[in-house]
Amino acid sequence: MYKKIINTLIKYFFSILIIFFMNLSSIAQQANKYSSLSGGETTRKDITTNAFSKPAKNLPLKFRQVFTEGNKLFKVDWNSNPNQKFYGLGPTFTQSSCISCHIKDGRSLPPDINKKGIGGLSIFINNYFKDEINYGNKIDTKAITNVKEEGDIIINYEIIKGNFSDGIPYKLFKPNFIIEKYNYGQIKNKIHGRVATQIIGMGLIETIPEKSILEWSDPFDKDEDGISGRPNFIYDPTIKKEVVGRFGWKASKGSIKHQVVSALHEDIGITTIFFPKNRCPEKQVDCKSQLINKSIEASENIVDIISFYTSVIAVPARRGIDNKYIEEGREIFINAGCAKCHIQSVKTGKNSNSQLDFLNNQNIQPFTDLLLHDMGEELAEYSKEGIAYGKEWRTAPLWGLGLIQKVNGKIRLLHDGRARSIQEAILWHGGEAKISRDKFLMMKKSNRELLIKFLESL
Ligand code: HEC
Ligand code: HEC
Repeated sequence: MYKKIINTLIKYFFSILIIFFMNLSSIAQQANKYSSLSGGETTRKDITTNAFSKPAKNLPLKFRQVFTEGNKLFKVDWNSNPNQKFYGLGPTFTQSSCISCHIKDGRSLPPDINKKGIGGLSIFINNYFKDEINYGNKIDTKAITNVKEEGDIIINYEIIKGNFSDGIPYKLFKPNFIIEKYNYGQIKNKIHGRVATQIIGMGLIETIPEKSILEWSDPFDKDEDGISGRPNFIYDPTIKKEVVGRFGWKASKGSIKHQVVSALHEDIGITTIFFPKNRCPEKQVDCKSQLINKSIEASENIVDIISFYTSVIAVPARRGIDNKYIEEGREIFINAGCAKCHIQSVKTGKNSNSQLDFLNNQNIQPFTDLLLHDMGEELAEYSKEGIAYGKEWRTAPLWGLGLIQKVNGKIRLLHDGRARSIQEAILWHGGEAKISRDKFLMMKKSNRELLIKFLESL
């Protein structure tokens, strides 16, 4: 008799326990789905103008010092005086420090309409037909003393007008990049501008398992949803291997270190063991005459410190996630097909650098599949980077989107900063994303506003 009662009690107790744990795990799942911690445990609650420059929340104390050193190197102005520290600038270059493009570790801005110069843009020469041997892959609009810069650029904007299906009009501005002055002979290829991006959560992006990226890809659109993303494949000189590309607007860099040594070389003119030659084409005699000191300008130690810094910048937390309108905005985001490319969440794997193990196994919400998508003729460059063709662009991560205005003072979206609002960025989506853009055009005004409210909470 006693035994029976005890047995029933035990059964009862275990069923309650199971129900309790099931509830707990579903609460945990919900918490994960609606978490404000876009960068997992690295996330910081910061909504100030420094929201893109804070160290990961879970950065171990022992790395604080390296982070501070890296921050200093990110701000350092490289110079052309062989007797000084940080020598090696140029001979031709775009800017003399990382921070002069990545303002407050955020984005660079194109010049205002009708303003001369290139502002914070980098000017790429399209290489689709042939390389410009007198220039290389970029036009450097600055140079050290006694060397002529490569040229001057002007940007004209073409205004494109349209209407939403409810009749409300909109205007878009399409930049045309024109070379005003060539200093080393004519350039036949087209040119194109790109803005620097915010560098939050880079280490987390590096830690997304390659397997996840490959699983998202659907190069032949087998599921027939009109979307056929494919990964870029790229030779990464820092690990001497071909890998899936992750960084840059065309995913043409395989690792953070690869991105850093390319930035030093192409944007600032600094050599490293990975790119040991200065960028002086044969015809640029005054450039070549400056190469007195042939040694490597940034040691591998410097590269590693900058790479560490760049890897561990926190992702800012989302705001207002308890607001029911923001969750309605998420539904609209999903229904418009945005989440097919801007994949909402993923779990990081294991970073190959064991010092970065605090980035492993994090539930993150980067809103990207890191894949290349055909985005249509209007956004195209005429270049090839890795396997990416002109119309193909990497899905831009959307975390931090709502804080760009705060950090940069202005919002300038898409690869060349042509979009002056989130609305304009969506309206430029073409190619595989045209279905989404058309859904946006057809939406009620109140739904467009809810969608944008949601995007501003990221
Ligand atoms: C002249 C402007 C300029 C300078 C200087 C510059 N960058 Fe960049 N940065 C860019 C642009 C433009 C891109 C996008 C490049 C592309 O599309 O391939 C970029 C991309 C990046 C990315 C990848 C971002 C992403 O979302 O994939 C990182 C990381 C980065 N830069 C770090 C640095 C570091 C570190 C330095 C200094 C050593 C530096 N940059 C200097 C313009 C600049
Ligand atoms: C087919 C894939 C795809 C779909 C679908 C898609 N996007 Fe994008 N999105 C991209 C790519 C690729 C870029 C970068 C394009 C560029 O810079 O030229 C981008 C850029 C953006 C940007 C600018 C980000 C930045 O950092 O400048 C925003 C905002 C954005 N998308 C929102 C949306 C919204 C909202 C939807 C749904 C209405 C959507 N996207 C649908 C692929 C897609």
